[in-house]
Amino acid sequence: MLPPLLPASDLAAAVTAFHSAGSAARRWDVESAFRWDEAEADRLTEGQRSAVRFITLIEDHLPGYFDLYERAFPLNSDVDLETFIHNRELYHFTVRWAQEEDSHARALFRYQVAAGIAEPEELRRELAAEGRKKFDLPLDHAVSLFAYALVQEKATQLYYQQLRTVAGDPVLADVLTRLARDESRHFAFMADVVERYLRREGDAVVEPIREVIATFRMPLADTIRGYWRWALRIREVAHYDHTDAYAHLIRVVNRAVNARSDRVNELVTFIDACRTAPVPA
Ligand SMILES: [Fe+2]
Ligand SMILES: [Fe+2]
Repeated sequence: MLPPLLPASDLAAAVTAFHSAGSAARRWDVESAFRWDEAEADRLTEGQRSAVRFITLIEDHLPGYFDLYERAFPLNSDVDLETFIHNRELYHFTVRWAQEEDSHARALFRYQVAAGIAEPEELRRELAAEGRKKFDLPLDHAVSLFAYALVQEKATQLYYQQLRTVAGDPVLADVLTRLARDESRHFAFMADVVERYLRREGDAVVEPIREVIATFRMPLADTIRGYWRWALRIREVAHYDHTDAYAHLIRVVNRAVNARSDRVNELVTFIDACRTAPVPA
């Protein structure tokens, strides 16, 4: 990925904060956190079942997302020592994040089967058909990947919260509560990293962040069959608009920058203009 990279010590501080926020008391596991025997798909509307199938596909693509990080931040002799040190520090986040995302995929799979939405064999095949497609992003700068993840994690958290409030099955609501809390911590890490970038690099990272918003697509938008029709459908079930997350990016920019330069001002104006329903100042 193109520089700048944060100093490893900066990244380490963000990684430590992330691990502290996910301390043992807040962890959960798929096997014991939910009353699977009470899961009941009959309590869900057709649209809610469709939304569950959709988010299962998105979460289940984890190997593709993880692979992108491995390619973007290699841990081998292809990179110089300084870059390796940076990438090694980031890995302390990535590997934990991946474990949590993988448990999201397992929880949703388990829910579908327990509630009677899908048969395991069939569901595995369905997920594999999408899962083997490569995941890529049209971004070159390291900071762009973090800004992308910031928006995506927040958008996902907001959708799970919305879906939870309408979900007819309390077991599904419990699953979504856990998932939304994890996504909120993932967002917090990305927000921390992007904020550090802005503090350190200022104007130099404005363009790479602008690019993220200019080209933003939710993950798998280009690979899942019938994505857009499906996406519109899940929006009818619970409020969903990924540009809601842009307000959170603007907040990160404002927090990081005391005296806004012209370039930072333009960035904030641009992000705000990309929102579906700008909130009056
Ligand atoms: Fe997730
Ligand atoms: Fe996440």
